Amino acid sequence: MRLVLASRNENKLRELRRVLPEWGIELLGARDEPVEDGATFLDNARIKARHGQVQAARDVWIAGEDSGIEVTAIGGRPGVESARWAEDGVARLLTELDGVADRRARYVCELVVLAPNGSELHARGVLEGEIAVGPRGTEGFGYDPIFIPGGMALTVAELGNGWKAEHSHRAQAARALADMLAETVVASDDGREPGAG
Ligand code: IMP
Repeated sequence: MRLVLASRNENKLRELRRVLPEWGIELLGARDEPVEDGATFLDNARIKARHGQVQAARDVWIAGEDSGIEVTAIGGRPGVESARWAEDGVARLLTELDGVADRRARYVCELVVLAPNGSELHARGVLEGEIAVGPRGTEGFGYDPIFIPGGMALTVAELGNGWKAEHSHRAQAARALADMLAETVVASDDGREPGAG
């Protein structure tokens, strides 16, 4: 199965490939990036997928992904602004939570897949956790050095990429979507696989 990811984010590509090696995921490498002005992760994932679909080959199945972190003590921010919130998001978050007892946070990922016939599938993954008092660990990306998943003592950057492939918000969304996609492909009229043709 082949699927094209409408993104330039190599970290997301690496993680999605590790969760779903059988998809043979490729990056679209679009000429430009869409304006991510949606109010939700789902809106932005759809914006990316639709923008990619215009530039991709006609028969390709295309995926859009939007993700971020919601921090309870600051009203769910940065949320959809996670990538643009600050030059150094980790430093800003630690500053905003300095002395704050409520460290709860969650990672959210929305994945949208558009079929060549225009139909849409989407899935959401959520990973609950809390913000550490300082960065620890070297794997992953973004907020991983300060994100401690619920029930764990280590940050995601310490737990590592293998752990992320099993448990992350992105892994959860990708696996749910893979299940839906398998059913869709079996049930589709022409029976062609994603990316075929
Ligand atoms: P997007 O490219 O607009 O979806 O931005 C996603 C942003 O959310 C990233 O740049 C990171 O700051 C943050 N983020 C999303 N997923 C993760 C993750 O798995 N680990 C750490 N940070 C993440």
